[in-house]
Amino acid sequence: MLNSRFDTIMRRIATVISVSILTLSLTAAFSGVLLSFYYQPTAGGAYHSLEMITNEVEYGWLFRKAHSLAGNIVIVLALIQIVVMFLGRQFRKSWLAAWISGIFLTLSVIGLDWTAMILSWTQDGYWRFNIELGTIQAIPFIGTQLREILTGGAGVSTVTVEHLYTIHSYLLSTVAITLAVVHLATVLYQEKEMYQEAAKFEQQPETESSEVLS
Ligand code: HEM
Repeated sequence: MLNSRFDTIMRRIATVISVSILTLSLTAAFSGVLLSFYYQPTAGGAYHSLEMITNEVEYGWLFRKAHSLAGNIVIVLALIQIVVMFLGRQFRKSWLAAWISGIFLTLSVIGLDWTAMILSWTQDGYWRFNIELGTIQAIPFIGTQLREILTGGAGVSTVTVEHLYTIHSYLLSTVAITLAVVHLATVLYQEKEMYQEAAKFEQQPETESSEVLS
């Protein structure tokens, strides 16, 4: 009884978190599209265009803040969701589907944050990215190719910003939103399954007692 109460609470929390994740992902995508109207994916130009969005474009600061907040909160929620799903684990197909989609969702939002590192073209982002490229290059077999795909061949330049912008805004954001929808659907399904089972369990003693009487 105590265990099923714990499971019910865990599943409810998982549903609330996945609704929040989807809402925040859509907010990030929407504000990202608004940023893209003025954003220039070039070395140097990226920094100036974001400064212009913040200081000159009407409500530009608001969309930038909304994008940053939604994008960062979604990472925190996705990590909490992994813990919640682990605590309420039940090795069934519906739980497994929610668990796997949750893990890939977390990876894709971490990827979104990582690819955004160079998009603002700040000193911090630039040097952090250069250091991390060194780590990427050290990956056996695929390291050098991966580095070339990200940078576009030579050093960190406009081509790098363009590549990471494409990965961030088209590829990973589409993957993250698709996974957020799949994750919510699977979490809702496992909650429905749990209620159906609980209803069946409650009906059982009545059926058994009526069988005994007849
Ligand atoms: C699920 C969707 C998305 C998520 C979760 C997301 C997440 C993020 C995060 C975490 C940052 C770093 C913000 C910071 O800490 O300053 C960022 C920056 C950025 N994103 Fe996205 N993003 C998404 C979609 C998009 C789309 C669709 C576009 C453009 C079409 C876009 C364009 C940008 C730009 C230009 C920046 C740099 C802005 C800045 O540094 O203030 N994003 N994004």
